Amino acid sequence: MKKTIPPLYYSDYLKLDQILNSQHPKSLEYGGKLAHDEVLFIIVHQAYELWFKQILHELDSVIEIFEGDYVNEKDVGISVARLRRITEIQKLLVDQIGILETMTPLDFLEFRDYLIPASGFQSYQFRLIENKLGLDPDQRKLFEKGAYYSRLSPEHQKLIMSSERGPTLFKLVEIWLERTPFMDFKGFNFWKSYQSAVENALRKDKEIIENNPTLSDKVREQELSEFEKTEKSSTAIFDEKKHNDLVQKGFRRLSYLATQAALLINLYRDEPILHLPFSFLTTLIDIDELLTTWRYRHALMVQRMIGTKIGTGGSSGHQYLKATTESHKIFSDLTNISTFLIPRSQLPELPTELRKTLGFNYTKSKP
Ligand code: HEM
Repeated sequence: MKKTIPPLYYSDYLKLDQILNSQHPKSLEYGGKLAHDEVLFIIVHQAYELWFKQILHELDSVIEIFEGDYVNEKDVGISVARLRRITEIQKLLVDQIGILETMTPLDFLEFRDYLIPASGFQSYQFRLIENKLGLDPDQRKLFEKGAYYSRLSPEHQKLIMSSERGPTLFKLVEIWLERTPFMDFKGFNFWKSYQSAVENALRKDKEIIENNPTLSDKVREQELSEFEKTEKSSTAIFDEKKHNDLVQKGFRRLSYLATQAALLINLYRDEPILHLPFSFLTTLIDIDELLTTWRYRHALMVQRMIGTKIGTGGSSGHQYLKATTESHKIFSDLTNISTFLIPRSQLPELPTELRKTLGFNYTKSKP
């Protein structure tokens, strides 16, 4: 039986009565006079929270896809599209700061004191985004020597602590990378071939310095010492124990196997089957970069608004926020894969059978 659907009214569908009646300036309530810019301040924050909700909606769906034991190509495509939607929203969030900056610091002072101790620091949706992406709790800057969620309501604390436990996108991506096929394919061992290509490239570089007749002994010595540093950083990747030590000390997060797979995807990204995984990894780097851009832009705005005063939430303000831009990154290990890339011309040749497997095999039949 067909369900009768009553005609829909725009305002009802969007619950505009609720949304448009949810701006209650404190300057009016406590000071008796509306601080004109407080309306902008409230609306900008509300718009952020709506977009945070959309980001969480996309993020949760990608996490769900990656939670399975197997992720098919189609779903990787869907995930890339949803993550790209997140990056477009993030660009808007960075731009939105400019709108708030049309409020001058003096205008902000008209209502700032009414806000204490509330702060964007208490945005539980922002914390959920950080945690679901996979920000390492041990990496977090301490806030007033306490946990970052200590200023939140018990209900929000519960949500945030549960999101810290996972599943996080970082962990799921790591597991997915560890499952990457083609690392060892019918006699072609990617890691061994890559290692010998790196060693060959380094040997050639060294020979060029040693045999360059235009260099004086002093310059040659300097260049060889620089070369040694490059050699050390390029070959560090081949030492699993060293890698695990770095993970232990918190300098790296991605497992050794997942790092190898990420490198394979980056090096052989021109092979058709690796296009999508490469786009996926690139989008994760974009999300991290845009989050850092937002943090930095927000920190600059805060300095402009309150100078070196402490924040309404009680932090050191600009100093605290600036510190988070460097330390609160999530996918740095994917960004740093560039350290280990070698030119396409020096890449080990793939065996024909493997190349065929990595390609799209459709061939147009002759008329
Ligand atoms: C006049 C505008 C703003 C000022 C002066 C300001 C100031 C601050 C300060 C000082 C902090 C550090 C915690 C504290 O001591 O309060 C903070 C944190 C934060 N603010 Fe803002 N903020 C402003 C606008 C916004 C907007 C529009 C958002 C959007 C949601 C936002 C989101 C956040 C978030 C998420 C944090 C936590 C950052 C972290 O811990 O990494 N802020 N803000």
